[in-house]
Amino acid sequence: MTSVSERESATGAPPVTTKLELKGVGKEFRTKRAHTQALSDVDLTIGDGEFVSVIGRSGCGKTTLLRMLAGLVSPSSGEILVEGRSLWHGSTVDSSVMSELGVVFQEANLFPWYSVADNIALPLKLRGDGRAARQERVAELADLVGLKGFEKAYPRELSGGMRQRVAIARALSIGPKLLLMDEPFGALDALTRERMNLEVQRIALATGATVVFVTHDITEAVFLGDRVVHLTPRPGRIQQILPVGIERPRDIDVQTEPEFGVLVRELRHALHEEE
Ligand SMILES: Nc1ncnc2c1ncn2[C@@H]1O[C@H](COP(=O)(O)OP(=O)(O)OP(=O)(O)O)[C@@H](O)[C@H]1O
Ligand SMILES: [Mg+2]
Repeated sequence: MTSVSERESATGAPPVTTKLELKGVGKEFRTKRAHTQALSDVDLTIGDGEFVSVIGRSGCGKTTLLRMLAGLVSPSSGEILVEGRSLWHGSTVDSSVMSELGVVFQEANLFPWYSVADNIALPLKLRGDGRAARQERVAELADLVGLKGFEKAYPRELSGGMRQRVAIARALSIGPKLLLMDEPFGALDALTRERMNLEVQRIALATGATVVFVTHDITEAVFLGDRVVHLTPRPGRIQQILPVGIERPRDIDVQTEPEFGVLVRELRHALHEEE
């Protein structure tokens, strides 16, 4: 596999620095009933500011991969480097790396008794930012994710898409250099999902964050990714890495372009071949 810096320098563009490196990463879960090799031998280099989609069937280890990157589950083998520093020392995570991390899960997981503003500001409060700084940042973020005017609302008063945007704003509050998203739009209707895809692209471009985005939706994976990593199950391994050479910003209409169709078809065939 060609590393990002090699890929870029081959095109004459300035070399991109490496943000994340996975070297021979594996994860085995042991319970009383079973041993599951969830992931095996995952090698992947992700450039700073790159947007990587991860796709694969249910149970192929996508969430496990993201949880290891998020410092929630330790790898059983291999190494994960963030800007060249080891993320894990055995089962202990390097917490200095955690401070620049934003995570969005499939469920928004908001605090129902907190307003939108307080939900967004929670990581800032935990890190000790003062009230004025928090208010300023919440106003910026509410604007960024299209929730201006809803700062005082409570989660129950929002639609699913709006709640997910609150979760995104909360993840962005600390200005993460690394954003990890696990099927964040799985429960949304097709139109809201398209809108959220555009929003995530816009946010990624505006903040320059490196993004790892897990999905089982082929169109979404190609639309958002600079590359799509295809995982196969039992054990989860990288089957293929598909570069998406489509210019940004991409609009929804790009999905009807022939080059987009070719990539979607290739990925769909590869996923079907697993059977
Ligand atoms: N905490 C755990 N204990 C035991 N086994 C686990 C645990 N977490 C995940 N697994 C197993 O690891 C494998 C990968 O699970 P994972 O949740 O990473 O898959 P996934 O690709 O995210 O699936 P989905 O698309 O359904 O979300 C599965 O076989 C699952 O049963
Ligand atoms: Mg999952």
